[in-house]
Amino acid sequence: MKYVLYLAIPLIIILSMASCKNSKPKAEAQDTVAAFQEKYRPQFHFSPAEHWMNDPNGMVYVDGVYHFFYQKYPYDTSWGPMHWGHATSRDLIHWEHQPIALYPDELGFIFSGSAVYDTQNSSEYGTNENPPIIAIYTSHHKDGLEQQSIAYSNDKGRHFEKSYLNPVIKNPGISDFRDPKAFWNPVRRCWSLVLAAQDRVFFYASQDMKNWEKTGEFGPEGNHVKGVWECPDLFPIEYKGKNVWVLVVSMTKASEDDHCKMQYFLGDFDGEKFLCTCPSDEPRWLDEGFDNYAAVTFQNAKDVLLMGWGMNWQYAAQTPTEEYCGQATLARKLSLTEVDGALTLAAAPAGLEKFRHSSYPIENHTTIRTETFGLKVSGKGDAKICLKNSVGQKLKIYVSDTKITVDRTMAGYKEFSEHFMTEKYSISTAARKKDGAWNLELVFDVSILELFAEDGVDAISTVVYPETPYDRVSWKGDLSVELYEIDA
Ligand code: FRU
Repeated sequence: MKYVLYLAIPLIIILSMASCKNSKPKAEAQDTVAAFQEKYRPQFHFSPAEHWMNDPNGMVYVDGVYHFFYQKYPYDTSWGPMHWGHATSRDLIHWEHQPIALYPDELGFIFSGSAVYDTQNSSEYGTNENPPIIAIYTSHHKDGLEQQSIAYSNDKGRHFEKSYLNPVIKNPGISDFRDPKAFWNPVRRCWSLVLAAQDRVFFYASQDMKNWEKTGEFGPEGNHVKGVWECPDLFPIEYKGKNVWVLVVSMTKASEDDHCKMQYFLGDFDGEKFLCTCPSDEPRWLDEGFDNYAAVTFQNAKDVLLMGWGMNWQYAAQTPTEEYCGQATLARKLSLTEVDGALTLAAAPAGLEKFRHSSYPIENHTTIRTETFGLKVSGKGDAKICLKNSVGQKLKIYVSDTKITVDRTMAGYKEFSEHFMTEKYSISTAARKKDGAWNLELVFDVSILELFAEDGVDAISTVVYPETPYDRVSWKGDLSVELYEIDA
């Protein structure tokens, strides 16, 4: 018996050590996001079961399933050596956790990238009957060297095998060379990708996702703000029977306000590079809020669906969520529209249609019974809309003839970060693009608000940490308001 204990005690110690920090993370398969209900945890926005997340990666739609991979550090709630986490959904609202898809290796951490469903098996990593998913990502070595690598899946995204050819795009001798986003090139009928290279993007083309040739660059001309370019994406949107190409670039410390923001350019793709044919004197931002970054689109989806990281580098690691850190935004369906003769992107929340259809009119000062809801607001002139809780915390939205403002100064707990507490990180403003009567849609999920203004030509995403749920909506101004509950 004594000898059994001598053996058993060290074994118990080893096993319990293995279950903490540096152990393999517990597989998260089968759990849905809504199965976790801690304070502040959003219910229909994706968040990891535990530990850190940042950018969405490798988003691809295959056989009715949206695959969402993401930057993950599986041993702590702060950033660390990056892996690709994985989750799946059939409706973009209910997410199921899946086991980690990619682990760091001798080439480095697994930084951001994309995935394509290779239906023609051009990579020859699958068969025509069972086409592979090919992931392309940045291998970030700890000495800073960034190169691009691929991995393939023959079981629809459950497991990935890295290619022995890695890196498939070697570093050309620069820092900040990352975040490849692959897409189908309809002009040359091959794969292309766009990646961030310091203050510009590079384009590459390939027949097989293995051999890549550089075909062009875009930037920094045409860009009106400073900042390192990250997580680009290039995709077409049909407008009046023609394809307009949209280049999206995430930029940290962009503009005087120092925020993480996403800029977009409209133009054409000649098969080799993007040409900005609709220049603008002002930068065009995809979202004027603090908490939407690194957004890219799903490959192979019918609609143009863009999804981002609902967070900000400035205070991400300090947010008061305990088990996990960070969440995704909703997927947004993008379209093009004209405002005063200028072509503009418009975004609408995807996946919420069935809830939005059951909205009903409400009176001022209505009690809200759920922490997950939407408000459709139409108004004229100046207005103020307020979400309030029982301890006097208020998230305030103002509309005037010239701007829309979201003020989280009094919205909840904010002392966790010296940045979050400042005025600079409290008030987001979008200049109004249209005149006259206006509409807003507010989508609220426990601790994140996504606001879509004037038919989606402006958006503001903001995280808030109300200490008790907002349970009342009130307003001032000439408004009509409808409420829908979101049952996640
Ligand atoms: C953007 C980013 C990417 C990089 C990743 C690392 O948020 O900085 O450029 O690949 O995060 O986690």
